[in-house]
Amino acid sequence: MFKLIYLIDSIVLFLLIVMWAVVANRLSRLSYRSTKKELQRSIARFMIPFFIAQGLVIAEVVILFLLGTYGWEFIKEKVLLTMPLFIPSAISTIVPLSMLRKITGRISENLQSTVDETDRKVLTSPGLMLPVQAALISSIAGCYFSYVVYPFELNVLHAVILWLSFAAVIVVLWFRQQRLSRKRVKANYAMTVSTRLQHAVISSACLAILIGGWYALSMKASVLPDHMNMGSMDHEMDMQAMNHSMNHTMSNTIRNTMNVKEISVTALTGPQTEKADRHFELVAQKKQVKLSSGKTMEAWTFNGIAPGPELRVKQGQIVEVVLKNKDIEEGVTIHWHGYNVPNAEDGVAGVTQDSVPPGGTHVYRFEAKQAGTYWYHSHQQSAKQVIKGLFGSLIVEPNDLPQHNTKDITVLSHAWQLSDGSALTPTYGLKDTLDRQTIPAGTQVKLRLINAQNYPQTFQLSGVPFEVTAIDGNEIHSPTDIKDQKLMIAGGGRYDILFTMPKTPVRLSSRSEAGVTPGIVFSEAVTHSTPAINEKNAVFDPGTYGEKQPTPFGIHSKFDRTFNIVLDSRFGFYNGKIYALYTINGHVFPDTPMLTVKEGDLVKTTFINRGWDHHPMHLHGHTMLVLSRNGQPTTGSPWWTDSLDVAPGEVYEVAFQADNPGIWMDHCHNFVMPKRE
Ligand code: C2O
Ligand code: CU
Repeated sequence: MFKLIYLIDSIVLFLLIVMWAVVANRLSRLSYRSTKKELQRSIARFMIPFFIAQGLVIAEVVILFLLGTYGWEFIKEKVLLTMPLFIPSAISTIVPLSMLRKITGRISENLQSTVDETDRKVLTSPGLMLPVQAALISSIAGCYFSYVVYPFELNVLHAVILWLSFAAVIVVLWFRQQRLSRKRVKANYAMTVSTRLQHAVISSACLAILIGGWYALSMKASVLPDHMNMGSMDHEMDMQAMNHSMNHTMSNTIRNTMNVKEISVTALTGPQTEKADRHFELVAQKKQVKLSSGKTMEAWTFNGIAPGPELRVKQGQIVEVVLKNKDIEEGVTIHWHGYNVPNAEDGVAGVTQDSVPPGGTHVYRFEAKQAGTYWYHSHQQSAKQVIKGLFGSLIVEPNDLPQHNTKDITVLSHAWQLSDGSALTPTYGLKDTLDRQTIPAGTQVKLRLINAQNYPQTFQLSGVPFEVTAIDGNEIHSPTDIKDQKLMIAGGGRYDILFTMPKTPVRLSSRSEAGVTPGIVFSEAVTHSTPAINEKNAVFDPGTYGEKQPTPFGIHSKFDRTFNIVLDSRFGFYNGKIYALYTINGHVFPDTPMLTVKEGDLVKTTFINRGWDHHPMHLHGHTMLVLSRNGQPTTGSPWWTDSLDVAPGEVYEVAFQADNPGIWMDHCHNFVMPKRE
């Protein structure tokens, strides 16, 4: 629904400009009609676009009202900034309307005679022309402030500047119209083709200079610096690396100032001296791999396999991973997605380490404190490297009871780019065809669903009731059986589900932006039956699932810091080129706000998505507690997450304790290259 309103809003905003331009043009031509009959006809023809334009104004007001039902943040700028121009302009067009009515009344008797001076005077008067021109200008302002510049940090100064310049333009146009009117009334001067041409050339030249100047300036301003220092931290950021590792709305790094004492990111390591309980070596290398259908592609692999090997450890173990880069020219890193490792182990190129070049090595060490389902992936040029295969699962088994007789299956869903250049192929691992597995009836089956694709993905398990036992590695308190519901998992997110294998077959499959993954059929014995998937099933709601449980903080806590993160899209420049940009609080990196908090701070963040796309917001180094969605507090089991999908029109309040010092990314996990316009 939100997307529909958003779409209609864009169309109406655009049509407003077109219609008011048509109206202004037709109005300015009325004074060139020589006979009253011609004039009468022209006035009648003018009325049609005029009433359409008026109708559009009413439509836009209704749309704003509807958008406002999603929250004040969705319409703030429109209401406070452009509305004060737009509504008065539109209302003032009543004046020309009544003037024209009077003229039609006057001329109706003597239709064959020529238009006299009195009428021509009215037809060229500023009182007639200006309201329509004002409506046109305010429509352009409305579009400009919605799609080119979002004046996010709305302040009185900006508003006053905008309104004063609007007033100035109106005054200038008023005098211009007055001069024009005098000329037109005195001599019955008909506009020749050449004067019209002249006018057209002059005004388009002015427009070209204006737009050209704006273009050149904004382009220059958007070029990224070579280097940049993240505040006073003793750590230079390589902007090129940063740029590479960035997905489309990478944003806010959190800096811990620690009052006076400053600590280098590189000092915030995991245990250095203890002997590692588990040792892994991951070698990044290019390799031809084959999907189950036989299709091949050149993947970027860890140890020659894609996805990379599963790292399965026990809670409490000290894990050591040696990353080696064989032949990935752009360099690689490993980020432990959802795992709250010390900052220097976080694997973010350009922030916590330099990427590892071909021939290079980097050692990661951390204690496996959290149990659950996680994944790892390169955080250098993620948009390319993750899609090409530099990722794998990280499973941490709880050190309490080992579950006997539980079949533990990791489902790593991905979408691959094949060598033949076809569209993305959705898979589980390398399976792009239906996978059949036999499991004895009565067996407990745990599926660890990992969405390693962009955008949310809906998983369906048909043929058996099941429990959602964990979200993003965090256990659900008292889960209950659910059936006929689909699980919508954010990009980068994970759900663990549990079911008892029945005598009849069960099917897991999913749908994403890349299409439908054929999935897996589990059956007691070899079978050919394939349970159907009902696409109409309702979406599972994690906000009301399971039972309440005390949490260290909640919606009524006193927060040390609160932030609003408004996600949006607009046209603009990035590093010297024009794109359809995704913005945070009106900006793109590096102009996005840096959220700086102190160690120990309780932080509340509100994500507001007033743009066109889903944004899976992923916070590094911390786990967020979802407090509310669209103003409704969560009521079920505490919903802890590190990858939260914020759909268009949605508002989420989340909170976390800043207990892990360092520079942390808080970004959208859609690894897609921005579209060039
Ligand atoms: Cu899974 Cu910053 O990433
Ligand atoms: Cu996004």
